[in-house]
Formats: sequence, structure tokens, C-alpha cells
Amino acid sequence: MAFPPSFLDELRARVGLADLIGRRVKLTRKGREFGGLCPFHSEKTPSFTVSEEKGFYHCFGCGAHGDAVGYVMRTENLSFPEAVERLAVEAGLEVPVATPEERRREKQRATLLEATEAACAFYERSLRDAAGREGLAYLRGRGLDDDTIARFRLGYAPEARGALKAALQSEAMPEALLIEAGLLGRPEDGGAIFERFRGRVTFPIADRRGRVIAFGARALGDAQPKYLNSPDTPLFQKGGVLYGMAAAWRAAGAAGRVIVAEGYMDVIALARAGIAEAVAPLGTALTESQIELLWRMADEPVLCFDGDAAGMRAAGRAAERALPHLKPGKSLRFATLPAGDDPDSLIKARGRAAMEALLAEAAPLDRILWQMETEGRPIDTPERLAGLESRLESRAFSIGDKKVQYQYLAEFRRRLREAARGPAGAPGGGQKWRGRPGRFADRRETGPVQTGPRLPPEGLRRRREQALMAVVVNHPTLLDDLAETLGTVSFFDPGVDKLKQEILLHYAASPDLEIEGLVRHLRQTGCSEALAAVLGPEVTVHAAFARPEADPRLARQACIQIIDSLREPEVRAQLAEAEQACGRAGADDWAALKDDWESLEETILAAQRENGRHAASGDE
Ligand code: UTP
Ligand code: MN
Repeated sequence: MAFPPSFLDELRARVGLADLIGRRVKLTRKGREFGGLCPFHSEKTPSFTVSEEKGFYHCFGCGAHGDAVGYVMRTENLSFPEAVERLAVEAGLEVPVATPEERRREKQRATLLEATEAACAFYERSLRDAAGREGLAYLRGRGLDDDTIARFRLGYAPEARGALKAALQSEAMPEALLIEAGLLGRPEDGGAIFERFRGRVTFPIADRRGRVIAFGARALGDAQPKYLNSPDTPLFQKGGVLYGMAAAWRAAGAAGRVIVAEGYMDVIALARAGIAEAVAPLGTALTESQIELLWRMADEPVLCFDGDAAGMRAAGRAAERALPHLKPGKSLRFATLPAGDDPDSLIKARGRAAMEALLAEAAPLDRILWQMETEGRPIDTPERLAGLESRLESRAFSIGDKKVQYQYLAEFRRRLREAARGPAGAPGGGQKWRGRPGRFADRRETGPVQTGPRLPPEGLRRRREQALMAVVVNHPTLLDDLAETLGTVSFFDPGVDKLKQEILLHYAASPDLEIEGLVRHLRQTGCSEALAAVLGPEVTVHAAFARPEADPRLARQACIQIIDSLREPEVRAQLAEAEQACGRAGADDWAALKDDWESLEETILAAQRENGRHAASGDE
């Protein structure tokens, strides 16, 4: 019985060769391969190797060689179809019964592949013809050199009607075949047959083995649609293919990662920048079968999204779609690009290093879910916290794998506890806001509350620094009169200090600060983490004055007072000197400062009260 080659490909890809052989042979990893004692002849030193990547085993001693099917045939003494069936059962694949109809279809696939390959070669030739001059100029204009054009087999579909048909029919390809391959179209109303792509640059789409199965084609100007894709054909279902998959598959193994961008040009730009392990879906949200493909390339594919609202929504959709299929060790990560940028434009403007920096910062899936559920929604009352808890739980319950589900629930609970506790210790924990040093330094602290110096410990200082920066980011107009003062405060936390400096630098360069521009600048200068910490719920849950919706007057007042409080230790040192020099006069100033300090606490307490019961939960 003949099995369709596509089925055998799938089977070989699903069966882990090292796992299979490792059941009988003790294998040890040697670089990218495994080695052990050959099961087919007796030996004392290992000359048997298994290459998971190449999908075969080889013995340098006796010459035994084969793939998973061959291995099962030989060790279990089975025929080819029996071995295939045995492996298929293990891999959970249904063995296709090759009906005459299916045999016909396999043959047809082969013929269709000849048609798409011939079309690809024709488009490549056309790009170099007089007819393709504009197309070539377009690609050059986008910064592509000849090597890249050849590597991605970019081409041009001429404007002239009948060009493709004329070229391909001379190679004995009947019209019906070209229609079936998606190259020609037949209007439903029975009108004349037309060429699908005309006057566009072409991007061949290949299967995992690099065989051309379809095309994307971009208009040179503003013609709509910008990209046209082949329709689904017996060769091509757009939800089951990723652009750039063949090259990325090879590169992903060595790189240990795979990057998912949104468009053709992004994949090409990434490859040009040396990141060959990049793919893109074909103009749709990632499908489940695309996610499964990605997981065969790497454990944690990194998805790149535009940093705008639409990008966040797309990330959310991908996260949602992946949840039911998560498995231990398999997840997604999310890299957020500056709003309005894609990898192509980012690499062009800022180079590979900037791209790598964003990839390195990619957020794990659980953080994206948390962000989706908390962004723009305060969690400052028990009811809101409970609402958040049930939303997060229902997300976690959609995870199919029980182990992963358990870990998600545990992680969400941990974060909820942290958010509920806020910066002020456990609710009802018996700690009061005032004058209790140590409470910010270590939130898990359970020992007796220390009494001691009135000055705030480092933790409190850091929290204040963060709250101050949160006010500034959420109310950037405050910088108009506070920038200078802010410049004189030096922050204890180096991350927050850098954040402050970058904000001031950006403000100096473009004083009519808009928030998107500011955030982009901060991201690009490596302040993302500090920014995230500053805007996180741990800061704003108590510092109501720091939220975007806070009354600007309250924000301003808090800002000034925090700045003063942060400068206090410096001022105090000066005062101490002054005190020594002038006696009682200094002490009077000190008293005034003390009042100031108290009033800062009053402001914050008032904000908390205004903000509802929860914020005051630190009080008994
Ligand atoms: P984008 O509109 O983000 O385009 O579409 P892009 O990739 O940045 O393209 P350039 O840089 O302007 O050339 C992203 C992807 O969505 C699909 C394509 O696969 C494209 O690469 N798309 C877009 C379509 O299928 N049709 C369209 O009309 C537009
Ligand atoms: Mn683009």
C-alpha cells in the first residue's frame, strides 16, 4: 500500500527519533546529535549516532542507516506498512487509506507543484525583464539587494494580460491546472479567465521543504488591496502555512528560538539582519495549527506586535488561542514594538541591536494575560480584586494541560495576593501607615514591627520615587514647571534614576510631550522595566494621585511634596551642619521640615481614603 508522502513527512516529524531509539539504546547527547552502542551489531565503544534534526540514525561501525520507520522495521521485524502503522498509532495519527481517489490527488499535488514552481521561475525572470523594471525599482527602493531578491525568490507579475499563461502553457501546463494552482482565476459569473497577479511584486510562499505552493503579491503603489494572496488550493491552506517556514525551520534549531512577525517584508528584514529564524502568518491572526508548527520549531516562539491598541488586541487573540494548547515547556512570548513600527521599519531605523533588545525583553504569556485583565482597570477594592480573580481563573481554566493550568492558577494567586497587599503589607496585617519603618522593604516580613528612626527606610524611599515617576508619566504637563526641580533630585534606585533622566532628556528635546512618544523613547533607551514597575499596580494601588485619571491639582501637590521628601535627607545633612554652626536657629528649620514630612503623609492618606476602603486597609 502506498502512503501519501505528506503523511509520511508528518509521521517522521511527529515521532521523536531519539525518544524512540532511546527506549532500547542508552543514548547520550553529543552536541546536536546523540550517541550510543549500536543495537544492530555488538560493540564496546559507541559508534552509533542519532540525529533528531536530520531524522535518521547511522552506525559508523556496521553501516546501519535509516529513519524512524526503518528503525522499527528492523528492530521489530515488521514490513514497511506495518512499521508505519505502529508508529502512527503511537504518534496519534490516523493512517490514511490510500483510495484511488487519493492516489490521484497525490499525483495532482505533484503536478500542481510543477505549476507553482514554473510560475515562480517565470516571475523571477520577469523581474529582470524590461516588463519588470518598475518592480525591481520598487524592491530596490525598499532597500533589498540582489542577494536578498534571489534568496527569497522575489519576482514580478507583469501587467500585460496573458503573460503568465503564455509562458506556462508553452511548458505544457493546461489552463485547468493553472486555475487549480490559484494562478489563474475563473470569475463565478463565467466571465473571461484572468491572471490573479498583475503589476505586483511576488513573494513565493513555500512549504516546510521549501517547495513553492502559493504567492503573496504586493502592489507597487497605493493600489488596494496592498497584498493579494493565492486562494486556498490543494497545495495551500493559508492557516496551515507560515511565510519563511523552510529557512526558519533550519535556523530555529541552531538559534533555539523562532520569531513571528506580521508581514512578508518583516521576515525578509529580519533575515537580512541575521535573524533567519523568522516567519509570518499570511495576513490573518495565528491559527492553532500555525501555533503547533511554531512549537515544533522552538519551545517559546516570540510574537512581535505593534505597540498600539490594535497590536495589543492581536497579542490578546494569539494568547487566547494558545491557552487551550499549552503544554509543559511550551508557551509563547510577546515582544512589543514601538507604536507604528514593524520589525522592517525598526531594523531600518535602529538596526539589529534594537530589534534584539526588544526580543530579549519579550514578556511571557502569563504576564500578557495579567496585563490584559488589569490594564486600565483599577483593582483597589475587594470587589474589583474578586472580579479580577474570577477573570484570571477563567483564563487559566481554558488551559487544557492540568500541570500548566495548576501553575497558572498558582501564579495568578501569587500576584493577586501581592496586588491586594499593595505596597502596605497584608490587609488587616495590623500595620499602620505611619512611622513604621521596614514595611516597604520586605513585604513578606512577619517579625515584630521595628521601632526606630523616623526616617524612611530604602523600601519606602524607592516606593516614593516610583510614585513620583508614575505621576510624571501620567501627568507629563507637570514637567513644565517641575522639570528643573526634578533634575536636582537624585534617586536611590538606579533604574528609576535612569528613567527620570531619560524623561527629562526627552522633555528637553520635545517639550510638547505626548505620552506615546515618551513611552517609545523610554522603551528604546532600555527603560521598559523601570517604566513597567513604576506604572504597575503595586505603585498605583495606593498612590491614587499617580493615576492618569487623578485630579491634576492633587497630582501636582503630591509631586511637589514627594520631591521635597526625597530631598529631605540631603537637606537634613545641611541642616545638621547648620545646627552645629548656629545653634537653635537650625532646629527651628528642622521643625518646619518635619511638618512638611507629616503633610506629605497626610496627602497620601487623604488620597487613599478618597480612593475607597481598600486603600486604607493597612489600618485596623
Ligand atoms: P501590513 O499592512 O502590516 O503590511 O500587513 P507590511 O507587511 O508592513 O507591508 P509593507 O511593509 O507595507 O510592504 C502585514 C501582512 O498582512 C498581509 C500580508 O501578509 C502582509 O505582509 N496583508 C496585508 C494582506 O494579506 N493583504 C493586505 O491587503 C495587507
Ligand atoms: Mn511594513
